[in-house]
Amino acid sequence: MTTKEKILELFEANKGIYFSGEEIAGKLCVSRAAVWKAVKSLRNEGYMIDAVTNKGYCLSVNTDILSPQGIWKYLDSGYRHLDMTVLSTVDSTNVMVREKANNGLAEGYTVISNEQTAGRGRYGRKFFSPNGTGVYMSVLLRPDNYSASQAVRITTMAAVAMCEAIEEVSDEKAQIKWVNDIFVKGKKVCGILTEASFGLESGLLEYAVLGIGLNVYQPPEGFPKELEQIAGAIFAHTQDDMKNRLVASFLNHFMGYYTAQNQTDYTEKYRNRSLAVGKQIQVISGNQVRNAFVYGVDDECRLLIKYEDGETASLAYGEIDIRF
Ligand code: BTN
Repeated sequence: MTTKEKILELFEANKGIYFSGEEIAGKLCVSRAAVWKAVKSLRNEGYMIDAVTNKGYCLSVNTDILSPQGIWKYLDSGYRHLDMTVLSTVDSTNVMVREKANNGLAEGYTVISNEQTAGRGRYGRKFFSPNGTGVYMSVLLRPDNYSASQAVRITTMAAVAMCEAIEEVSDEKAQIKWVNDIFVKGKKVCGILTEASFGLESGLLEYAVLGIGLNVYQPPEGFPKELEQIAGAIFAHTQDDMKNRLVASFLNHFMGYYTAQNQTDYTEKYRNRSLAVGKQIQVISGNQVRNAFVYGVDDECRLLIKYEDGETASLAYGEIDIRF
């Protein structure tokens, strides 16, 4: 870790507490000049660091800036110091993590960006990823012996984990629009895109990149016209340390489900949060649209539906429109 990263870790773990330059220099075995240089650089990045004569430096409790140090402090002990990179901008975190996966990087590697210039959504769509108001994150996973059908679990576990994270840090109720969208107050605040690589002979998953796009705040210039009716944000105004808290809470919940012996434990939670159950929907498949009724979600999070002509089906993936 650089001196700046070490100082940030100290500040993040002790927000609102003053440390003299001498104290910091002593703790980290660096010069006071190095401390001053690092503080200056952190301020340039937007951190509000107060400096008071005879008291020292203190990181304001009101900052909301993503950093590994800011996330680690909220992570459960088993996941602390997860290999994590935070970027100001990138084309797509999923693309970046896929490249790292192909180069053999280990499970758990996580990239988080404040902006994406070419964010990817499902079905080759773009994912609107403006600077500063969202969190765009990808996690590399290398599960053992996962078949294609089991791979869907990664998305559904992530959906439950994100709902739990949102509810942990806000007063809002989060629900899931099958299969991978999170809704708050009737608007989509989060999309999940899991991209996977399978072994040709084994048919088993080699790795998966779990990508999550979260609208934490309303973009100041609003959502683009075509998203206005659908997209929303969790909060109207900036909250203290919210992005770091959301990421950490999501990872704590997700890793809990992902590493559990019984990986179907979360399915009841998925079912209970499902917006589609008991509703009339349209199943969209290319240009074809069929009306159906949703009568349940099974233990693999497949949607159980009955078409208008009486035919029943269980959908493992696909696109639906809920007729609210
Ligand atoms: C969807 O709603 O269609 C899924 C959107 C997934 C967006 C996330 S943002 C982080 C990661 N990187 C990407 O390019 N896409 C995913």
